[in-house]
Amino acid sequence: MSERTVSVQDAAQVLRPPLDGLPYLRHDRAGELSLDGGALAVADGRIAGFEADAGAALQVDASGCAVVPGFVDCHTHLPFAGWRAEEYEQKVTGVPYEEISRSGGGIASSARAFAAARDEQVLAQARGLAAEMLSHGTTTFETKSGYGLGVEAELRALRLAGRLDVPQTVVSTALLAHAVPEGYDADGWLDAVEAAVLPALADMPHVRALDVFVETVAFDNEHLARVGRWAAAAGLDLRAHVEQFATHRSVPVALEHAARSVDHLSCLPPDDVGPLAAAECAAVLLPGAEFLGGERTAPGRDLADAGAICVLATDANPGTSPVFSLPVIIGLGVRRYGLSAREALLAATLNAAWTLGRSDELGSLEAGKRADFLVLDGPVESVAYRFGHNPVAAAFVAGRPVWVRPDQAWRVGGAT
Ligand code: NIG
Ligand code: FE
Repeated sequence: MSERTVSVQDAAQVLRPPLDGLPYLRHDRAGELSLDGGALAVADGRIAGFEADAGAALQVDASGCAVVPGFVDCHTHLPFAGWRAEEYEQKVTGVPYEEISRSGGGIASSARAFAAARDEQVLAQARGLAAEMLSHGTTTFETKSGYGLGVEAELRALRLAGRLDVPQTVVSTALLAHAVPEGYDADGWLDAVEAAVLPALADMPHVRALDVFVETVAFDNEHLARVGRWAAAAGLDLRAHVEQFATHRSVPVALEHAARSVDHLSCLPPDDVGPLAAAECAAVLLPGAEFLGGERTAPGRDLADAGAICVLATDANPGTSPVFSLPVIIGLGVRRYGLSAREALLAATLNAAWTLGRSDELGSLEAGKRADFLVLDGPVESVAYRFGHNPVAAAFVAGRPVWVRPDQAWRVGGAT
């Protein structure tokens, strides 16, 4: 009997893809995900199969529970320093984001906080938030730079992301065009990035993608194209914050540059739904930012019906979405876009893992994949329905229980 064997039995539902080896599943096929009851066996950190293993070292009682892949949060802005609660009050009482941003708040204010914080403070805040994410089922997450707003500060943010040292898999993105730093214009800042930040990425294997924020207060479509050319030349993925507060017709530009994802999409015009849905590019929906920012609702239902690779993510950041719980995001996404439970879970697992370039290993329950999975305290339909409740009874990373909700410890051989 190996010490690293686990048997999860009597689950009411086990979420599985229609076929093994799918890199992603387009949303018009989400209904093919199966939810039959059953078991899951783990050996040496990997999924061994879907039969109970009576001899396994750890026995998990999943009666009445759903077993699903660990959640993958493919869009967060960790690490950052401090919070911006006062801005939220300004926003809800009627001051627009652009005005807050132009008067020195917004991203610039987080950059000042980042500059003032010591490395250990930034890391401690990020690790605390990663623990909160783990307790809500996130077993893989993305980090972004973008609160540095200076060459050295952006490099510092990327290096700190590489030092997080948390139980989750962490994949980093260099958001090098987030806001125009003081003393630069947009082109001048990108010149500085090209000269001094891009070359340093070669020594940072945890950085897998470049990102850019297209908005009137930030960068435009030509800058998006420039970042796209950098990404292609460096063998990195292109990701882009687009169509958040207004329509800029950025999606066609992103698709021309083979973007891996376009994120936000609250102001996506109807003409861009079809081409995005047909492309090999994830449509990353961020309902936390939409809800808390009073933004428009992205056409999530239309994208799903048209067969897009839809994704749900937190956009966890101190400004637009200080939300770290994917169950909350799933609840918002289901309500705002009109998604089924299968669609929402697909968007927070396999398709999110593909967005990070990791779906060969993560994001679905398949024999041979890493045993990152969750035992939920009810059926998958409850995740959105019991809005605000944490449904995660236990979270496993590579077959090890890394979070067990105290009232559910009896299920996991008494582990706490
Ligand atoms: O994804 N849109 C740009 N970036 C972040 C917000 C950044 C901030 O306000 O701190 C976002 O919403
Ligand atoms: Fe974001």
